Amino acid sequence: MGYERQVVGSVVALLVWVSAVSLSEGRVPFACDPRNVETRGFKFCRTNVPIHVRVQDLIGRLTLPEKIRLVVNNAIAVPRLGIQGYEWWSEALHGVSNVGPGTRFGGSFPGATMFPQVISTAASFNQSLWREIGRVVSDEARAMYNGGQAGLTYWSPNVNIFRDPRWGRGQETPGEDPTLAAKYAASYVRGLQGDGAGNRLKVAACCKHYTAYDLDNWNGVDRFHFNAKVSKQDLEDTYDVPFKACVLEGQVASVMCSYNQVNGKPTCADPDLLRNTIRGQWRLNGYIVSDCDSVGVFYDTQHYTRTPEEAAAEAIKAGLDLDCGPFLAIYTDAAIRKGLISENDLSLALANLITVQMRLGMFDGEPSAQPYGNLGPRDVCTAAHQQLALEAARESIVLLQNKGHSLPLSPTRHRLVGVIGPNSEATVTMIGNYAGVACGYTTPLQGIARYVKTAHQVGCRNVACGGNQLFGAAETIAREADATVLVMGLDQSVEAETRDRLGLLLPGFQQELVARVARVAKGPVILVIISGGPVDVSFAVNDPKISAILWAGYPGQAGGTAIADVIFGTTNPGGRLPMTWYPESYLRKVPMTIMDMRPNPATGYPGRTYRFYKGPVVFPFGHGLSYSRFTHTLAQGPKQVSLQALFTDANSTLSSKEAVRVSHADCDDQALEMEFHVDVQNQGPMDGTHTLLVFANPPPGKWAATKQLVGFHKAHVPAGSKQRVKVGVNVCKHLSVVDQFGIRRIPTGEHDIHIGDVKHSISVQTMQQIKH
Ligand SMILES: *[C@@H]1O[C@H](CO)[C@@H](O)[C@H](O)[C@H]1NC(C)=O
Ligand SMILES: *[C@@H]1O[C@H](CO)[C@@H](O)[C@H](O)[C@H]1NC(C)=O
Repeated sequence: MGYERQVVGSVVALLVWVSAVSLSEGRVPFACDPRNVETRGFKFCRTNVPIHVRVQDLIGRLTLPEKIRLVVNNAIAVPRLGIQGYEWWSEALHGVSNVGPGTRFGGSFPGATMFPQVISTAASFNQSLWREIGRVVSDEARAMYNGGQAGLTYWSPNVNIFRDPRWGRGQETPGEDPTLAAKYAASYVRGLQGDGAGNRLKVAACCKHYTAYDLDNWNGVDRFHFNAKVSKQDLEDTYDVPFKACVLEGQVASVMCSYNQVNGKPTCADPDLLRNTIRGQWRLNGYIVSDCDSVGVFYDTQHYTRTPEEAAAEAIKAGLDLDCGPFLAIYTDAAIRKGLISENDLSLALANLITVQMRLGMFDGEPSAQPYGNLGPRDVCTAAHQQLALEAARESIVLLQNKGHSLPLSPTRHRLVGVIGPNSEATVTMIGNYAGVACGYTTPLQGIARYVKTAHQVGCRNVACGGNQLFGAAETIAREADATVLVMGLDQSVEAETRDRLGLLLPGFQQELVARVARVAKGPVILVIISGGPVDVSFAVNDPKISAILWAGYPGQAGGTAIADVIFGTTNPGGRLPMTWYPESYLRKVPMTIMDMRPNPATGYPGRTYRFYKGPVVFPFGHGLSYSRFTHTLAQGPKQVSLQALFTDANSTLSSKEAVRVSHADCDDQALEMEFHVDVQNQGPMDGTHTLLVFANPPPGKWAATKQLVGFHKAHVPAGSKQRVKVGVNVCKHLSVVDQFGIRRIPTGEHDIHIGDVKHSISVQTMQQIKH
C-alpha cells in the first residue's frame, strides 16, 4: 500500500468509523440486529436460508448508488436495511496490525501479540507453527472485532516470491522458494480462517500481491510504474505457485492484485490473471481486491486507459470485486451510463463481497451469538499467546556459523558479557513492518542480562552508523568482557515498503565497529544480525576473531529472550535460511528490474535464487547449524511410480515416453502421493530439532536440470536418539517441470531425490493411455 494514499484513505475511513462504532462497549451488530424490528425479518437475515439465496435477496433490495458505494474499502452504511458501514482494510501479517484503517489500538485493546516477521517464521520450516500463529492472531482479531476496534477482513499474508535480495518488502514474505512459500501460504491462511464448519470463516485472509510484484523503488523505477516482463515459464513455476496453493489448498477468501503491470497490463485490469486464472482455473471462493488505489494508479500513473470510466470498467470486467480506494465509487456510475459495463457486472462483484461477509457471520445478528462472539480483551496478549511468540522466535533463529563450538556460551564461564551494537536495545525494530502495537518487548540486552552480568555500549547511534565516535567505549568493554555479543543489522530505515536496499553490506560504519571490537575482544565474539533481507557478512565469516554468527531476522516482541536462549544454549537453534545470502558483487550483474529466474549466458545474467543461480554465495538457501549433529538414512522411499496418462498430447513435440502433461495425467491417483521415511539420528550432545529438506532433480536431458525443494519436515530429536520422519511428495505437483510455454509436464525417467547427504532415485514411467 502506498503511504500517501493510505493517509487519504484513513481520513475517508475515519468519517465512516465514527458512524460505524457505537460509543458504548463493543460493536453494534453489523447487520440484522435482533433489536431492530424493521429489518430483522429480511430474508437475508435468516441464518437457515442458504447463503447464495440470502446474497441475492440483499442485492435485490439495493439501489444502484448503494451498490456503487459498497465496492470500495470504506463501504457505506445502508440504514434503511439495517446495515452498518464497514472498513474492509485490516492487516494481520504476523499479529493484528494497525497499518489498515480498519484496526486501531487503545482502550481495552492497548496491544496485540507481535510474532516474528514472516521471513523469520519461514526459517522455522514448521507448518504447524505457521498454522498455530494464524489461529492465535485470528483469536485476537476476533476479540478486537467484537470490541469494535478491528475488521474481519485481513489483507495478509504477502506471498510474493522474494526474488531480489534488495527488496524492501522481502521481510514480509516466506522467502525465495515456491514450495516453501506455497506451504506457508496454505498453513497461515488455514490458521487465520479457522476450521469453521463448511463454508464459515473465522476471519477472511487475503493472499497478495498478485502477481510478480517484488520491486518497490529501485534506481528510479517504482512499483506504480513498473512493467514486470515475466515469461510464461517463470509465472507458472515461480511467481504463481504460492497464490495457486493459497487458493486451492488454503481456500483463501481473497486475493489482492498488485500495482505493477505484468507484460504490459496492470494486474488489476487483466482478465487473464483475475477472471481466468484466479477465479476460473483455481476457483476462488471469495473476492478479488485491488492494492490501495491500484485502479487509480493504472489510470493516473500508468495512463493505461483514456478515461477514468474506462479504468473502472476494465477493472470490473477483469474480475475485480473491491477497490481499496475511492476510484470505483467515483467512476462506476458513469461507466454504467456509458454502457462500458452493466449493473449486473457490478452486482456480480458485490455478490462475491457479501458472500464473504455472510460466511463471516456478519449478517447473523449479535456478535455474541456467533462461534467467536465471546472473545474479548482477556483473549489478547494472553500468557499462552506470548509464549507462542517466544517459541516462534526461538524456532526462527538461524545459526550461520559456529567456529570451534564457541556457542553456546556458559553463564558460569562467561560471567561478564559485553553487549554492543545499534540493535542491542531493539524494540519496534524487532517486529518489522506490517506490525501493530506489541504486548511488550524483551530487548536483546534484557534477554542476555537474564543470564549474566552485562556491560553495554551501542557503538553506533543507529543502524545507519554514520561515524566511529563511539567505537572506543565499545572496544573498552570488549577488552574486559568474557564474551562479546554484537547486535547489528538493519531496520525499516534501510529496508521497508517503498524502500528497496542499495546494497547488501551492513550500513555505514557497522562493519568497522564489528572488526575493531573483535580485534581487541578478550573472549569469543558473537555477531547477531537483525534484518529481513540477507546481509553480505563475508568480512565476518573471514575474520578469525569472530566466532559465531546468528541471523535473528525480525524476531518479534520476544526476540531478545529467544536470542539469549540460543546464545546460552537453553534453545538449540534449528532455523534454516529461507533465502540465499548473496555476496554484494552479485548485484552488479543483476538489475532489479529483470524478472527472469533463469540465467542467460548470452548476457552474463546469473539467474536468481538457489534454483537457478549457481555462483558464489555467502550462505546458501536452507543453511542452518545446530549444537547437535544429525545424520539421516532413508528407511523407505518409492523406487518407481507409474503415471496414468488420460490423454495423448497430440500437439507436443515430446512423445509421451519423455513426459506427460500434468493436465493429461490422472493426478487423483493415490499412487502419486509418495512418502519418504527417513531415520534422523541426533549424534550430538543436546536435544534439538532437525529440518529435513527434500530436493529433487528431474532426469537429465531436455529439462536443464535444476534442484528444487519438493518437501520438508521439522522434527524434534532428543540427544543420542533416533526418530523416523515422513515427508510427502506429490508427483504431479513436485516432480513436474514447466516448459517455456508455461506447460507443466512430468518427465519420465530417473528423478534424483536428495535428502541431506542421502541420494535416492525414482523411476517415473507412463502406463498405456486409456483414451485418445
Ligand atoms: C512446530 O510447531 C508446533 C506448534 O507451535 C510445536 O508444537 C512443535 O513442537 C514444533 N515442532 C518442532 C519440531 O519444533
Ligand atoms: C492441438 O492444436 C489444435 C489447434 O491449435 C487444437 O484445436 C487442439 O485442441 C490441440 N490438441 C490438444 C490435444 O491440445
